[in-house]
Parts: sequence; C-alpha cells; structure tokens
Amino acid sequence: MASSPYADLDRPPLAARALQRALVVPGAMWRRIDVVAETGSTNADVAQAAREGAGEGLVVVAERQVAGRGRRSREWVSPPRAGLTLSVLLRPGVPDAGRGWHAVPPGRWGWLPLLAGVALAEAVRRVAEVGATLKWPNDLLVTAPGGGEGKAAGILAEVAGDAVVLGVGLNVSTRAEELPPTTGLPATSLRAAGSGSADRDPLLRALLRSFERWYGGWRETGGDAELCGLLEAYRRDCATIGRDVRVLLPDADALTGVVTTVDRDGQLVVRTADGREHRVSAGDVLHVR
Ligand code: BTN
Repeated sequence: MASSPYADLDRPPLAARALQRALVVPGAMWRRIDVVAETGSTNADVAQAAREGAGEGLVVVAERQVAGRGRRSREWVSPPRAGLTLSVLLRPGVPDAGRGWHAVPPGRWGWLPLLAGVALAEAVRRVAEVGATLKWPNDLLVTAPGGGEGKAAGILAEVAGDAVVLGVGLNVSTRAEELPPTTGLPATSLRAAGSGSADRDPLLRALLRSFERWYGGWRETGGDAELCGLLEAYRRDCATIGRDVRVLLPDADALTGVVTTVDRDGQLVVRTADGREHRVSAGDVLHVR
C-alpha cells in the first residue's frame, strides 16, 4: 500500500478523466490531456511529440518527474503529487482560420512564457487565494504569512522545430523540508504561503482555462501583446517593475539599477546609476530591495 498514489491522503492523484471531460470540449484549444504516473521531463515528452507531428493543444501532466528541467540548465525537483508539473504544445506559427488566428511571427514568440506567467498568477490568486506576482520574466512569487517572498513556480519555454513547448512547475503542498535549496530567492509552495487548498485539479483547470483565454487573444491579434491587453496585465502582475535589481546576463557583466518598465517586446528596462536605460531580453534577476 505504501506505493499506492492513494496512500498519502494529503496528495491524491489528479482526476485525469474529469480533467479531460472538463477541458477537452468542442471549440476549446486543448485537444488531449495525458496524465502520466511518472516521466523524466514533460517538456522533453512534449518536444518529442512535437517532432513526431502532434498538433497544438496537447498537454502532458506528470504525477512524478524524475529529470525535471529548469531554466539555465537547472533542475526542477518536486515530490510525487506535491505540485503540478506539466507542459503544453503550441504552434503559434500555424494559422487557424476557423478561430480567426493568424500566424504569429517568431519574433513575437518571446511573449509566450510571460503570457503563461500571467495565466498562472491569475489561476493561483483565484483558486489558492494567495497573493501572487511575477518576477521577470516568469517566476511566480508568493508571500508567506510572516512576510518574505518565495518562488512557488517556474516556467520553461523551449522551441522544438516550429513548435513551442511551455512547461510549468508549481509547488502546491510541498512542505518546507521538501523544498530544494536555492542560491537566490527561496523556494516555497502555495501551502507554505498559507493557501488553505492543496487541491491540484481546480488549479490545473483554472491554469489551462486562463492560458487559453490569453493565448486566444494574443493569437487573434497576431501576437500583439499591447493590443490584446497582455502587456498591461503583465505590467500589473510584475513585481520587478520599480525594484532595485541586479541582473545576471548570459554574455556580459551583471547590470545593477532600477527597473523602469517592461517594454512592448517583453524586455526588462533597467536604468543604471549613470542614467542610461538598458533593455534586457534574457537574464537572471535578483530583487535587491
Ligand atoms: C524554472 O524556474 O527554472 C523553470 C522550471 C520549469 C519546470 C517545469 S516542470 C514541468 C516542465 N517539465 C520540465 O522538465 N520542466 C518544466
């Protein structure tokens, strides 16, 4: 019985059939929701499916991930059923006349992980009833009852040919002693942040529905983040705007300054002490104050 997914009453398995029935409905973008007991990485699985020709709207959710990938070659570690680990398959370059969706040029695909962040923050606030903001580009921050920010979720976007795989890892019922050590912002979970609900099914539904709304609007406008309201929503959710930051850049010295905004391309705008403004499209941000 020890290995049964029902042994830990605190962490029941996802209701795969009910999720499928609720989300894979006529007119919806979700075509298939595979809930797997265990895999290496759902991002790797969905990228493989993309290479094999799977269409937009595939979702793979793992109850346990043993080789979860994070940004910048880090790992994503989570005990079985303690959180949500899932990836979705998108083909933003493929027009869909039936929905009035244009092909979005690849130069705009960089908005997708930010869009997923907005959808995730919205779902968490609604279902888990905890405050949730975003650290640029898309770490989900929640605040513990005693104060202090922690990262409860991360998003990893990877391009697989002409598809985009978006992976989300969200810590839901993870206990303090199960959270991985970090060098930067501490890891946390919705439970540690005071959420009374550790039920992953409504969270997953809310996330996929919210994502579908934002993605539909973004596609209808040909990927114009301003026109579809995404830029405004992102700026509202982004806790990095207005903060003093240190940005670790992939190929240059770190940048220290104050964040003035996020621009129409999703880039972070940092004003350094000499008054110059720098636009950052990739980097690791530390909130200094
Ligand atoms: C980060 O903050 O570094 C991003 C973490 C993304 C983790 C998720 S878990 C589901 C999906 N599959 C993976 O291998 N990674 C992403």
